[in-house]
Amino acid sequence: MSLSSEIQRRRTFAIISHPDAGKTTLTEKFLLYGGAIQVAGAVKSNKIKKSATSDFMDIERQRGISVATSVMTFEYDSTLINLLDTPGHKDFAEDTYRTLTAVDSVILVVDCVKGVEEQTEKLMQVCRMRAIPVIIFINKMDRDGKDPFDLLDELEEKLQIKVRPLSWPVNMGSHFKGVYSLYHKHLNLFTPGSQRLDADILTISDLQDPTLDDKVGNKDAEQLRHDVELIEGVYEPFSLTTYREAHIAPVFFGSAINNFGIQELLETFIEIAPVPQHRITEERDVRPDETPFSGFVFKIHANIDPRHRDRIAFLRVVSGTFYRNTVYKHVRLDKNLRFNNPYTFMAASKDVIEEAYPGDVIGLYDTGNFKIGDSLTEGEALHYKGIPSFSPELFMELINADPMKSKQLDKGVVQLTDEGVAQLFIHSSGNKKVVGTVGQLQFDVIQYRLENEYGAKCRFTPIQMHKACWITSDDKKKLDEFMRLKSEFMYFDKEKNPVYMAETSWALNVAIENNPDIAFHTTTEFMSAVS
Ligand code: G4P
Repeated sequence: MSLSSEIQRRRTFAIISHPDAGKTTLTEKFLLYGGAIQVAGAVKSNKIKKSATSDFMDIERQRGISVATSVMTFEYDSTLINLLDTPGHKDFAEDTYRTLTAVDSVILVVDCVKGVEEQTEKLMQVCRMRAIPVIIFINKMDRDGKDPFDLLDELEEKLQIKVRPLSWPVNMGSHFKGVYSLYHKHLNLFTPGSQRLDADILTISDLQDPTLDDKVGNKDAEQLRHDVELIEGVYEPFSLTTYREAHIAPVFFGSAINNFGIQELLETFIEIAPVPQHRITEERDVRPDETPFSGFVFKIHANIDPRHRDRIAFLRVVSGTFYRNTVYKHVRLDKNLRFNNPYTFMAASKDVIEEAYPGDVIGLYDTGNFKIGDSLTEGEALHYKGIPSFSPELFMELINADPMKSKQLDKGVVQLTDEGVAQLFIHSSGNKKVVGTVGQLQFDVIQYRLENEYGAKCRFTPIQMHKACWITSDDKKKLDEFMRLKSEFMYFDKEKNPVYMAETSWALNVAIENNPDIAFHTTTEFMSAVS
C-alpha cells in the first residue's frame, strides 16, 4: 500500500470526558466493534479509583495498566483506528493535555444528567487552543437527564463552540425509544439491555411515514417530527469543513452501557473525522505525505519494575514511514539512534513492528535519551511545536529529607519531571526547589517513586503561590531589570527559562500592568499570554 493510502485509512483520536461520564465504557464498546476485545469489562480496570484517597497500589496498578492501554489500535471496515487513552483522574490532566497534541480529533463524552462539568470545560479549552475537531457524544440517555435542546444550549455556552446535532433522541430515561440519525436519515430503535452489536435499524427517508408511529407511538413520533423540523430550521446544515476547522461540533446521543448509538457514532466518526494531519515545527510545516520520516515524543512512561530503569517513549509519526532497525536522528541530542524493538499496540498486546505510518504511535525503549517534545527525523533538524508545559495549579517546596542521598534525589526529580509527572522550578538564588503539579496526587506519586526507584527521601512543604508565568520580552534590559527587582519571586524551569512566580492573582495583575514590555505566559508555548 502506498504512503498516501496508509494515511487515508488512518484516524488517530482520543476520547475525553469529566470522570464518570462514560469514557471507559465508550472506549470498550469501540474496541468490541473493532474486534480488539471479546468481552465487555476488559477495559474497566484501566481506571484509578476515583476516591480522593487513591493509595499507592492504585498508582502502581494504574501505571502498569496504562502502558498496555495507552494506545489502542483496531480496524473497523478497513479503517485503522488509533485510540489514545487519557487518564480519567483529574490529577493527571496534564498528561491528557499532552496526549491531545498527538491526536487529530477527539470525541468528548458528556453525561446527559450532569451536563457540562468542570473537567469538560478545561479539556475543551485545550481543544479550542489547538483547533482540534470535536465530536460530542451525549451519554446515558437511558436516564432522565436534561432536555436535549437545553443541553445543546449549555454546550454552546459553556464550551464556547457552535454545535450541530447529527442524531436526535426519541424520548429519554425509561421512555427512551431510540435515536434518529439526522445524518443518515434512519431510526435506530432501542432495546434495553441488549448487547447486540448489530443495530435494529429502520430506514425512514420520510418522517411522515406512518411506520414511525407504529414503531414509537403517535406522541413520540409527532414530537420527533416537530424536533427535527425545529433543528433543521434553527441549525445550519452540517458542514464538514467547519467541523474539521474546529468551528462546529457535531453532537450525537446514545447510551454507551447499552451499546446504543455507538455504531452510528463510530461509523460517522470514520466518515467525517480528519485523517492524520500536518504538524508545525519551528522550522516549517511538515506534511504527512512527505517521504522522509519524522515524529515527536509526547509521553514517557517509566518501567514499573524499579530494577529496570528503562522507559518507554511514545512517539507520534508525523511524516513518512518509520522502519525498525534504521538509524534516525535524535534532533535535540544531535545523536543517531537505532530501534531494534519498536512496538505497536495492536489489539491491546504489544507487538514489535517493522514499520509505522503517519498517525501511528510507537513505543520506543529508552534508557534516558528522551524528553517530552523531542523529535526524531531522517537528518533534518525539526523541532515540533505545541507540546507545552502548562502553568501548574499546586506548588510545594521540595525538601531533601536525607542529605546523604542528594544526588539520587536530584537525578530522580529530573527524570520524573522529564516524564512530565510534575514541573520543577529552581529559585534564582539556586537554593530552593519548587515542584508544581496539576493535582495533589502527583506529590504522593513523586515522594513514593523517589523512595522506591531512586532510594531518595523528600518532604513537601506548602508555599503561597498562585501561578507560574514564563516571561519574555523584546527588550532584554527591561527583562533583566524586572528579574532583578522581583528576584525573590524569580525561578528558572529545567530549560533555564525565567519564570515569575506570582504569589496572588493581585500581584500578577499588578506585575502585568506595570510592565507592558514584558509578556507573561501561562504555557511554554508562549502563545497564550495572560491578559
Ligand atoms: P469514565 O471512564 O468516564 O469515568 O466513566 P465509566 O465508563 O467508568 O462510566 C461511569 C459509570 O457510568 C459506570 O458506572 C458506568 O457503568 C456508567 N455508565 C456508562 N455509560 C452509561 C449509560 O449509557 N447509561 C447509564 N445508566 N450508565 C452508564 P459505575 O457504577 O461507576 O461502574 P460499574 O459498576 O457499572 O462498572
